[in-house]
Amino acid sequence: MTLLVTGGAGFIGANFVLDWLAESSETVINLDKLTYAGNLETLASLQDNPHHVFVQGDIGDADLVAQLLQTYQPRAVINFAAESHVDRSIHGPGEFIETNIVGTFRLLESVRGFWSALPAAEKTGFRFLHVSTDEVYGSLSQDEPAFAETHRYEPNSPYSASKAASDHLVRAWHHTYGLPVLTTNCSNNYGPFHFPEKLIPLMIVNALAGKHLPVYGDGMQIRDWLYVKDHCSAIRRVLQAGQLGETYNVGGWNEKPNLEIVHTVCKLLDELRPKADGSSYATQITTVTDRPGHDRRYAIDARKLEQELGWKPAETFDSGIRKTVEWYLANPDWVSHVQSGAYRDWVQQQYAPPASAATAVNAV
Ligand code: NAD
Ligand code: TYD
Repeated sequence: MTLLVTGGAGFIGANFVLDWLAESSETVINLDKLTYAGNLETLASLQDNPHHVFVQGDIGDADLVAQLLQTYQPRAVINFAAESHVDRSIHGPGEFIETNIVGTFRLLESVRGFWSALPAAEKTGFRFLHVSTDEVYGSLSQDEPAFAETHRYEPNSPYSASKAASDHLVRAWHHTYGLPVLTTNCSNNYGPFHFPEKLIPLMIVNALAGKHLPVYGDGMQIRDWLYVKDHCSAIRRVLQAGQLGETYNVGGWNEKPNLEIVHTVCKLLDELRPKADGSSYATQITTVTDRPGHDRRYAIDARKLEQELGWKPAETFDSGIRKTVEWYLANPDWVSHVQSGAYRDWVQQQYAPPASAATAVNAV
């Protein structure tokens, strides 16, 4: 049995692959383009694991994807691959359209071609799980109820619009062609291996470097935070028991304003790595110009996943954020290689350069 995971060198995909292979001997084919967000150093512990096969390539490369599907005959495809940073989508939306919409379309077509030719038993068991975001639902006012799966789609950023479009494609491939799909829409993740341009890791690394902690606008925008390993356990559960064609919201019931998050990170650092002069890291907080079109509030109603599939997060926000800060303190090399760009050379340092983009770097 084999899984094809896309985007498995990114933050959530890599955590998923690491968690999967810690508990299972089912092989994971990991297809990742290695954009700036893809980091093979995150997967270094799998170097000698024969159940991990890394392939550098694009989800939109139909020939490559068809070849991988034919060669490895996966029982499921889990699609994490995406451009994922809202600020980058504001500065350059093109890549978001290319990967999140066109790439998902091409991947769906490749998978449909493979799936439709499968024998009946394999066809029935096959799954395409699409990993999406709560940002497709738009922004909530202070007193509106949290997003349920029935909430209208109202994306506001190029990122969320591109993810919304991909969700619609996945839905349509189920309704029109019968492709056995599942979709998850998760809230903001945090945890180990998070690229330090997103809020929580950025605040940790900037604080330690004595830099400003830039809070957009009034800092009272609310996000619903989930520890990444709880997102991974939700995906495993949906893959195992989700109803075909259904979408599942994933969240931790942890709504917090950004400023509170930043103060929590500062307090933990004050405790775990106190500054020599005795001052708090909170003195480094600065307010900066707000993000254009900044969504005010996200909140996830995760009752469908909890009640129908029995999923529950293992971490509270307090336990998860402490583990996260401790992880960044314990892994300065991973952080410094990301900051210096050295992580991009990691595969070349460890292995002979691949002959082509389609070359499998076995067991990276
Ligand atoms: P990430 O940016 O850290 O990782 C994305 C990965 O996809 C990278 O390894 C990158 O190299 C790869 N990739 C990009 N374009 C590709 C392409 N065309 N072909 C193959 N690989 C490609 O993102 P993440 O935070 O790990 O998010 C993973 C998924 O989860 C995304 O679909 C995102 O929309 C969704 N999501 C993220 C969050 C969050 O808080 N980070 C929350 C909910 C949902
Ligand atoms: P981010 O981690 O970019 O995730 P998203 O925009 O997908 O929710 O940002 C989380 C929140 O933190 C968001 O409201 C924007 C805010 N933010 C800051 O205030 N300062 C920062 O430097 C960053 C990166 C984000």
